[in-house]
Formats: sequence, structure tokens, C-alpha cells
Amino acid sequence: MRALRGRLFHLKGSSFRDPKPEWYDDGLLVIDDEGLIKSFGEAHLMLHDLPDYCQAIDHRPYWILPGFVDVHTHFVQLDIIASHGESLLNWLERYTFPAEERFISPEVSKETARYFLNEMLSHGVTTASVYGSVHQTSCEALFCEAEHLGMRLLAGKTLMNRNAPEALIQHDLQSRDLEATQSLIEHWHGRKRLAYSLTPRFAPTSTDEQMRWVGEMFQASLAGNVSSGPLFLQSHLAENLDECRWVASLYPDSRSYCQVYETFQQLGPGAIYGHCIHLNDRDRALMASRGASIAFCPSSNLFLGSGLFDLDAAVSAGIKVGLGTDLGAGTSMSMFKTMLSAYQVCKLRGQALSPEGAFFLATLGGAQALGLDQLIGNFQVGKEADFQVINPVAIPLIERRFQRTTTRSEELFALLALGDERCLAATYVLGDRVVTGHAH
Ligand code: GUN
Ligand code: ZN
Repeated sequence: MRALRGRLFHLKGSSFRDPKPEWYDDGLLVIDDEGLIKSFGEAHLMLHDLPDYCQAIDHRPYWILPGFVDVHTHFVQLDIIASHGESLLNWLERYTFPAEERFISPEVSKETARYFLNEMLSHGVTTASVYGSVHQTSCEALFCEAEHLGMRLLAGKTLMNRNAPEALIQHDLQSRDLEATQSLIEHWHGRKRLAYSLTPRFAPTSTDEQMRWVGEMFQASLAGNVSSGPLFLQSHLAENLDECRWVASLYPDSRSYCQVYETFQQLGPGAIYGHCIHLNDRDRALMASRGASIAFCPSSNLFLGSGLFDLDAAVSAGIKVGLGTDLGAGTSMSMFKTMLSAYQVCKLRGQALSPEGAFFLATLGGAQALGLDQLIGNFQVGKEADFQVINPVAIPLIERRFQRTTTRSEELFALLALGDERCLAATYVLGDRVVTGHAH
């Protein structure tokens, strides 16, 4: 058993509109030997119940928050973050595809996976849904490192067999896509805290044949035909207007872009679609009825000039929405910066995103979008003890700003708007400290 003392903050609501924040200014978090949350509450009410051998680690006056959940990112794009000047389709051709070609190398895969996961944890992100490259090696390396760190992670090998450079769809990869996917599922899906996500990049880069088998495999897993549980699925949808026009020309008989994924049975619980900017109400109703989720990736959308996501419309339609950094189109691995971009996108749409609502999207909301909210996302008893310790005033400007704040909500917003990884003192995974940060 272990216990940590500090200022606890988490959300207990069901939507970003009603996040139900809970604070314990002098709180205690007790973790059992399996790394699950045993209890939490006011320290002065709980300390005398701790057994003698359990000395609370005192993080006061730092804050203890649930680990962030990043519902959409590409570890194989780490090295092209901040590549200037293109919009989606040119950016893919000019920067992304060449960068992903390098992951044919197990050494590149391993070194990048290690760097990426360590960087994620150093930003307080403890769970993510991650795209690999087309190469099986990229996912082997990522899963291997995540297992070593004890992280809860979803990932998949990108599937792509048309409209991409020869190097990514040739060298006998294509015939082996199905085989490689099955092999990764057998080895990694349901192992420790890892899960496999079928990852067709987006409709334009998969043939009908590939789209068909992916949908069939996904549906078979939802029907209970995969012994280690339902698979996840991740892809991109309606990010950019040129992309939407391209899909319309590739699928002239389809009612909409979203309908293409419906036709190939790729909408369902555990399916997470990145962006979803250019959707109509019918598409949203369809996604909601199938239980598919959306990854809102605001920094990426602003960087590529893709458009402004309609958070209110998505949530009103009944779709679960989480936040994604979408590296390398996204400009940061920081969920603070991602929350700030989300706030700004909402502002430009005339919509309100409260500080508590933003933290909801970055924690419990992300867990809901991935269908993992029974396991992670807040401090509910029995959930996995993934959390971050934050010292907001490690940044002098935040310390200065805090002299003028009068409510917790104002403090939270200042942290969201001005914070970054310099505020991180520690990251815990299943109750174990895996990172000691700048602010320690
Ligand atoms: N659409 C298809 N592939 C990608 C990708 O790698 N990044 C983004 N942002 N959009 C995509
Ligand atoms: Zn993406």
C-alpha cells in the first residue's frame, strides 16, 4: 500500500458541459499493491487509518491530477513536428510519408518509441491512442517500450495500400498487411495494459478490399470473436476540404465521407476518428448511433489550417469527444497547450469551454472517448492509479498570475493557459513514479 498527499483535483461528471470538479486542498490518495486506487479524500480524515508501515509521500503544496489521455497521436511523426507551410495533403506528401519510411528500421523504431513515450510521460500523459507507420516493427517497438513502462496504451500499424509512395505500399508489405495485423493482435492485444487498434490511415489510402477486411475484423471482434476482447479502430475523417472533395471523387456513390466508413463497417464502439471538422448533422447522428468517438485535435487543425471543430454540435449529437495532440501536425505534446488551443477554437466558433470542461476533455472525457472510463480518467476507487503531480508556480508568470486569482477555477484556467511540462513534478503509472519532472 502507498499513499500520496497533495492538492487533489479531478472530474466526476459525464460531459465537458457538466464536468463535476472535485477538489481536496489537503488530500490523500491511497493506492493498493496492484496499483489501483484504494481510497481518497481529506488527508486529516484519513491519515490515522493508514497502517504504520505506510508513510504518505508528501507532495504538498503541489497538485495531484489524473494522468492526461491523448486520444490521437502519431509517434512516427515525432521528427517532423513544426514542418512549415503546407496544408494536409501536401504536408502528408512532403513531410509525413518520407518521415514514416524510416520506420522500416527496428533501430529507428525502438529509439523513437522510447523517446516518444518518455516525452509523453514527461508531459503528464499516461494513456494514448497512437498510430505507428505501415511497418510492423514500429508497433512492435512501441508496444515493447509501453509494456516496459507499465503504461495503458492503444496502438496500431497504419494500413495504407494506395495513393501513397511506393516505398510505403511496396516491398511486399501489402500482401502482408493482414498477416502483420493478425500477428500484432495475437502478440499484444490484451497483454498487460496494451490494446490493438486497427489503423486504416484514411479512406483515400486504402483499397476497397483493405477497407472491407478491416471492417470485418473490427465487427468480428465486437461480436466477441477475438479471445482477448474487442479491438479498437482509429482513422481520420473530414479534416480538410480538399480531402473531403478527394473522398467524394473516389466514392461518388457515397452519401458522405462518414458514410464510407459506415459502408465498410468501421463505425462502432472503440472506433476513434480524428478531426471530424467538416461533418453534417446526419453524419454526427450516424456516428453517435454507432458509438464511434471523435478526437478533437485543435493545435493540429490550427497548424494545418484545416478548420474549426464544432465541439457543441458533436457533444449535442451524443458523440464522446477527447483531446488529441496529433503529433506531428499538432505543435506540442503538451495537453495544457492542447487545452488552450481547444479553448481558442471554441472561442472562434462562439462556444464556451470552461477550465473544468477543458480538463474533463483531457482526462475523463478522453477515457470515455476510448471506452476506458471504467479503468482510468479520475480518482474513482478501483481505477488504475495513473496520475501527475503538478507545481503550477514552477513557472514564474503563473506564480505572479496566482497573486491576482481568487477562485480555484481562475487558478485552473491560468494553469491551462500558461502551463507546460515545466510544471510537472512527477508522473505515476499504476502507483509507481516513472518520471521525475522539471518542477520536482
Ligand atoms: N490524414 C491522413 N493521415 C494523416 C496524418 O498523418 N495526420 C493528419 N493530421 N491527418 C491525416
Ligand atoms: Zn492524425
